[in-house]
Amino acid sequence: RAAVIVAIDGPSGTGKSSTSKAVAAQLGLSYLDTGAQYRAITWWMVANGIDIDDPAALAAAAGKPDIVSGTDPAHPTITVDGTDVAGPIRTQEVTSKVSAVSAVPEVRARITELQRSIAAGAERGIVVEGRDIGTTVLPDADLKIFLTASPEARAARRSGELKGADVHSTREALLKRDAADSSRKASPLAKADDAVEVDTTELTLPQVIECVVTLVEEKR
Ligand code: C5P
Repeated sequence: RAAVIVAIDGPSGTGKSSTSKAVAAQLGLSYLDTGAQYRAITWWMVANGIDIDDPAALAAAAGKPDIVSGTDPAHPTITVDGTDVAGPIRTQEVTSKVSAVSAVPEVRARITELQRSIAAGAERGIVVEGRDIGTTVLPDADLKIFLTASPEARAARRSGELKGADVHSTREALLKRDAADSSRKASPLAKADDAVEVDTTELTLPQVIECVVTLVEEKR
């Protein structure tokens, strides 16, 4: 059996990470969270005093940090220059700055290259989640899923994760990030023509996982 490559894209709060990890674990595949990589490079830019509003400075620094992702779905890890950044990349500061950093073509080129080499090395196959995996990073993926959900459902899920966060401000921040990710010139958030769209608004997480597992099994 050849390695199966699954691309899962969509905006924030659609259940991409939970679904991707569970599907990879159930099927014995590797897992890659590409959002974590963009968060990690953003964390490094902030830590090194790079001006987030200066695309030329971001472009010049894009090659500097060494970002390493662990691909075990039961225990995903991410380090920058050997430092574990799994916690720091989830702060509100990084979340509010990641769209500006990920819009820079040199940053995308660097991270895309990393992603392709990780996917090529996954002998048993891999589930890769992100925004442009089906369109740009792995256009030949065996299966492409595009997850959607209503803004209300997405905001409610996110504020549940960020214990105690207010649903209204979570919704505003999330819609602002989606708008930035969808409107950038370099490889925007978009559904590939050959992606299967799954609207998760009315589905439970186990239902979404089952749906994707079934689609992967049909491809194997
Ligand atoms: O998925 P997550 O919310 O962690 O992604 C953080 C950010 O990383 C996104 O808002 C987007 O700006 C960027 N991203 C991207 N391309 C990807 C994955 C994430 O531009 N493939």
